[in-house]
Amino acid sequence: MSNLFATKSIGTLLEQTTDDKNSLKRTLSRWNLISLGIGAIIGAGIFVLTGQAAASYAGPAVVLSFVVAGIACAFAGLCYAEFASMIPIAGSAYTYAYATLGEFIAWIIGWDLILEYLFGASTVAVGWSGYIVSFFKDFGIIIPASISNAPFYYNAATGDWSTTGAFINFPAVFIVAVVTTLLVVGIKESANFNNIIVLIKVIVILLFIGFGMNYVSSDNLTPFIPMNTGEFGHYGWSGIFRAAGVIFFAYIGFDAVSTAAQESKNPQKDMPWAILGSLMICTVIYILVGLVMTGIVSYTKLSDPAPVAVAVNAAGDGMAWLRLPIKIGAIAGLSSVILVMLMGQPRIFFSMSRDGLLPQSFGKVHPKFKTPYITTIITGGIAMIVSGLFPIGILGELVSIGTLLAFVLVCAGILVLRYKRPEIHRPFKTPLFPLIPILGVLSSLGVMATLPRDTWFRLIIWMAIGIVIYFSYSRFNSKINNSKG
Ligand code: ALA
Repeated sequence: MSNLFATKSIGTLLEQTTDDKNSLKRTLSRWNLISLGIGAIIGAGIFVLTGQAAASYAGPAVVLSFVVAGIACAFAGLCYAEFASMIPIAGSAYTYAYATLGEFIAWIIGWDLILEYLFGASTVAVGWSGYIVSFFKDFGIIIPASISNAPFYYNAATGDWSTTGAFINFPAVFIVAVVTTLLVVGIKESANFNNIIVLIKVIVILLFIGFGMNYVSSDNLTPFIPMNTGEFGHYGWSGIFRAAGVIFFAYIGFDAVSTAAQESKNPQKDMPWAILGSLMICTVIYILVGLVMTGIVSYTKLSDPAPVAVAVNAAGDGMAWLRLPIKIGAIAGLSSVILVMLMGQPRIFFSMSRDGLLPQSFGKVHPKFKTPYITTIITGGIAMIVSGLFPIGILGELVSIGTLLAFVLVCAGILVLRYKRPEIHRPFKTPLFPLIPILGVLSSLGVMATLPRDTWFRLIIWMAIGIVIYFSYSRFNSKINNSKG
């Protein structure tokens, strides 16, 4: 009889990583991992969504929204770091839940993480498409709208779907295909590629901050918190929180580091470093970008798909040389987010298949490249379809709610495990226990509450599909349940 709450011992988890035939290569250093984290974090959030958040909700106080969202992520990040050092196995929150909360919850998280990684990659690919179209346009090359837009549109106000007349978002499909190919060929090669593009995007952002500071005018920053319009979420303090919900997307990705634990040279020490380090670096960068952006140009002008470019233009000739690098930086930045997400997803599938919850073929490692190539190709294929057909708004909200649910479960998992298994060696411990995990659960639920009802509805449907699959397939094929007889 299968047991929904069977847990997998940490010893078994660790033993599996030494199974030679299907093991992954340990090639990633601490700096590779931090770079992986920054690669996953800085993307569509800062390059696309910040402008909207400032213009519509928070004004210059979007800086405070970054602080609020950063603090919520830090609680979750500390819990992730404890888990990642204790259970340094690929699979992220899924594996952690298997060791603590039992198979059913682990399945729920694993299924939920598909929203974060596979749909996350698709969302950012749509953002990439927007930037590449605008980049080519600067050189007089027009990519027709009929092949660079989603064929479907969702009207959030009426709840209706309609067609746009476009055929497919081809650039989005293209970038997913390129990244997938790279990932099949090898993690080391991918990590090198990732280091280069992370460097490009960070340099471009630092140039923007460094040179942009000279153009900041205190007029643009006063009042720092524009007066609330009378409607909840439109400026004032409620606007700061609403904007924090929107720019939460900008922080997603630090947990992707944990999916590469099995390829890390020294996961127990390096995982907490990489998770918290990349999160801290990005928080500082975001606060500065928010300050410089709203300092150069009035927040009322930032409602644009490329707000950083708007700020550069507003600075005038003095910063004109930065116009092209900003677009290149954004395109590179978005590519690396796609890369890390498409790298994380197959590794979660890989762990789930190893446990019998998904078909065994998902767990195959390529004999030559040593990568989980079957799951990489499946992930890439589905991401191509999703990014080719759907608009960015719908996808982004789904990604945020899915990620927040994972954060809630991870923080809850830390609480449960400290009481249930106090004896396990924890190379990194979440400080101020139990305050931090409790605040982690509450703050993630708080941000989830700022998301629209439709998004909640989609999350429920997605999870219902997952539960049907679990009870019709995974439960019967689960290794842990079958081995117990
Ligand atoms: N944090 C990632 C981004 O902003 C998902 O694109």
